[in-house]
Amino acid sequence: MKVLILGSGGREHALAWAVKRSERVTEVVCAPGNGGIAQIARCVAVDLKDLDAMVRLAEAEQPGLTIVGPELPLSLGIVDALRERGLRVFGPTRDAARLESSKGFAKQFMKRNQIPTGNYAVCTSSAEFEKAIEFFHPPIVVKADGLAAGKGVIICASRNTAIEAAHGLFSGALLGAAEQQVVIEEFLEGEEISFLCLTDGKHVAPLAPAQDHKRIGEGDTGPNTGGMGVYSTDAMLDPGMTEWVLRHIAEPTVRAMAEEGTPFTGVLYCGLMMTARGPEVLEYNARFGDPETQAILLRLESDLMDALEACVDGRLAETELRWSHGASACVVASSSGYPGSYKTGFPISGLGAAAHVPGVEIFHSGTARLGSQLVTAGGRVLGVTATGDSLDEALARAYEALVKIQFEGIYYRRDIGHRALGRKP
Ligand code: AMP
Ligand code: GLY
Repeated sequence: MKVLILGSGGREHALAWAVKRSERVTEVVCAPGNGGIAQIARCVAVDLKDLDAMVRLAEAEQPGLTIVGPELPLSLGIVDALRERGLRVFGPTRDAARLESSKGFAKQFMKRNQIPTGNYAVCTSSAEFEKAIEFFHPPIVVKADGLAAGKGVIICASRNTAIEAAHGLFSGALLGAAEQQVVIEEFLEGEEISFLCLTDGKHVAPLAPAQDHKRIGEGDTGPNTGGMGVYSTDAMLDPGMTEWVLRHIAEPTVRAMAEEGTPFTGVLYCGLMMTARGPEVLEYNARFGDPETQAILLRLESDLMDALEACVDGRLAETELRWSHGASACVVASSSGYPGSYKTGFPISGLGAAAHVPGVEIFHSGTARLGSQLVTAGGRVLGVTATGDSLDEALARAYEALVKIQFEGIYYRRDIGHRALGRKP
C-alpha cells in the first residue's frame, strides 16, 4: 500500500519511520517533508495552507491511506474533502477538529459534558472580558480562541495585564489576526502529561504517556516553544490513573462528540494537568503531538498501520497496541534564537556517528538538503530520540548522540526528564 503523510516535522518523520516498518507498506510519500524524511520517503512539495493543492496531490497520488500530521489541514477540512472523494484518511473532520481549533468550543464542550477542566469564561469582546475577569484571581491564563502555534497562551500576573493581553488578542496586535473570542482560564498547578489515544469514533486505545518540556530554558524557564523534549515511561501514569483518565476524560470526550453529531476519529491528544483535584484537561489537540510522537512511536512494538487503518475502518476494538517496557526520550536540538527569530542554512554534521549510538533514532524537524549537504531549515532542527531499559539509559543515549552533532548555534536543554528523575535542573 502507498501511504501519504501530510506535514514536514519530526512528528511526520517518526510517522514515516513507523509506517515503513509495516510489511503492507510499499511506498511512503510525504508532503512537503524535510531533508531527513527525504532519506526514507519520496517528498513532494505542497502548501499545507492550501486545501485545493493538498486535495489535488492526494487525487494524483491515490494513496491507500493519507495520514494528516499538523492541525492546520485538519481545520481547513482536508479529511472531509478526501473522504468526499472516496480516499481513506486518518484524522478528524473539520467539525471534530474544533476540539483543537477553537478553545472556546473545547471549554464549552467539556463543561456541558462534565469533563474535568479548569474554571473559565469565553468572551467575545473586551467589555465582556473586563466584567468576567473580576471572578478570576491571578495568576490568570488568557488564551486566543483559534490556532496560534503555541503563541496563543498568555499567563498574566495581574488582572490589568490580563486585560491588556485580551485587548491585544481582540485587536490583532498580538497574533496578527484579530480574535473573535478570548478564553480566560484558571491557572492550574501540577505535572503536565500528554495523554494521546487513537479512536475510531467509538473505541479508545491509549498510547504510551509522555511528558513534554514546553519552555526554551533549563529548569522550565523562558518562553514557550513547540516542545523542547519529551520522555515516556510506564511509571509516569500508573494503571489505575490511566483507567481513570480513560473513563472520565478520553471516553466521554469521544462519546459526546459522537452524540453531538461530530464523531471524532484519529488521534485525540488530551493535554492534562495532574492537579490536587485530579487530572484536568488543559487543552485538546486533534492530532499527534510533536515531539511526543517521536518518543511514543519508538516504544510501539505492534504495527502502527494496523492501528491507524483500524481507526479509519471503525474496528479499533479488535486491535491491540503493544509497547516496550522501559522508557524513551527525545531531546530537541534547535537553532539559536528559537522560539524568537533565528537563521537557517547552517550545515549539519556528525549525524552518522550519532545514529550509531545504540537505541538512538534521529528524527528531523527542520532540515533541508542543499546538494549533498544537510542544512538547518527551522527553529526546531532535530529530535534525537532513544529507548532504554530505564529513563536514565534512554536519556544517556540521547545525550551521547547529541554531543556528536554540530551545527552553528545548536541549542538543546540538558535537563529533559529532570522532573521524573527528581534531579535539580
Ligand atoms: P496550550 O496551548 O493550551 O497547550 O497551552 C500551552 C501551555 O501553557 C500548556 O502546555 C501549559 O504549560 C500552559 N497552560 C495552558 N493553560 C494553562 C492553565 N490553565 N494553567 C497553567 N498552565 C497552563
Ligand atoms: N508538543 C505539544 C504539541 O504537540 O502540541
